[in-house]
Amino acid sequence: MEFLHVYKNFVKKYKIEFLKQNPKTFIEKWYFKNIIDEINFVFEEIKNIKDVNNKNILALILSRAMRSCRATTHSDLATLVEPVSTTYYCSKHGKICKPIFSIIKWWKTYSKDTVKRIKEFEKLKTETHQYCLSGDARTIDIFTALSKKKKSFADILNRQKISGIFSSPPYVGLIDYHEQHAYAYNLFGFDRKDKLEIGPLFKGHTKEAQKNYVEGISAVLNNCKRYLKRDYNVFLVANDKYNLYSEIANKAGMKITNTFKRPVLNRTEKDKGTYSEIIFHLKENRCL
Ligand SMILES: C[S@@+](CC[C@H](N)C(=O)[O-])C[C@H]1O[C@@H](n2cnc3c(N)ncnc32)[C@H](O)[C@@H]1O
Repeated sequence: MEFLHVYKNFVKKYKIEFLKQNPKTFIEKWYFKNIIDEINFVFEEIKNIKDVNNKNILALILSRAMRSCRATTHSDLATLVEPVSTTYYCSKHGKICKPIFSIIKWWKTYSKDTVKRIKEFEKLKTETHQYCLSGDARTIDIFTALSKKKKSFADILNRQKISGIFSSPPYVGLIDYHEQHAYAYNLFGFDRKDKLEIGPLFKGHTKEAQKNYVEGISAVLNNCKRYLKRDYNVFLVANDKYNLYSEIANKAGMKITNTFKRPVLNRTEKDKGTYSEIIFHLKENRCL
């Protein structure tokens, strides 16, 4: 009650407008009007920047800041449940927390953090090629898609093929990734492709969902095999609660040659409890 009183005074003092009734978009549902106004202001400023690199970096900072400004409890940051517009007991921090009224704190934090990461990466990066292709991993034609974007890199890959994959695939019924990043789809006007998600939360983790997941991930591996050289290495980070990965490997004509345990120590959401993920090392199954 004590905190609520202070909170209400702040709301009055800073003329905070709460969430919209009958929201039509993700942003209307999950952001206070004051936050939306600030985001729109910053986004308009970013649009006027001529230098493409600076523009992209600032857009990235804005999208990181936006993720932290949704009107949710801290414990539901990864999987949104219901918007909040008042004080609440926060199980993540063990104290009373409140939804935030301005993006400024996160804008500053992510500005510094992003620049720090870029500087760090500058030192670590080697003279190699990288490209980020977006598409359905079950069907994307990697070489053709890449040759449209970065021909010189595609030519090298066509000659020598791909040595391996390191990936963290989705897990069965755990997260709706489109929903988790809906703010960015909304802000930047990206097309949503929810139906292409493998193992989304909205499909649950029933036997049927597990079967679809096995089909989905093995289809990805079978698609990727077309681009891999002989004796390839595939590493997949998985929280394999339902023991599906030996079947997945089988369906993809691969075998699990090693498993490594990876402790997950820092999680954004709910409990701060640690858990382990497995990194599967897969190779071609020569016995087939
Ligand atoms: C565990 S996350 C890993 C994300 C990223 N590798 C990382 O470490 O931040 C799994 C990702 O797989 C993506 N995904 C799900 N289905 C997909 C599909 N059919 N094709 C490509 N990506 C997919 C999800 O959208 C999500 O971004």
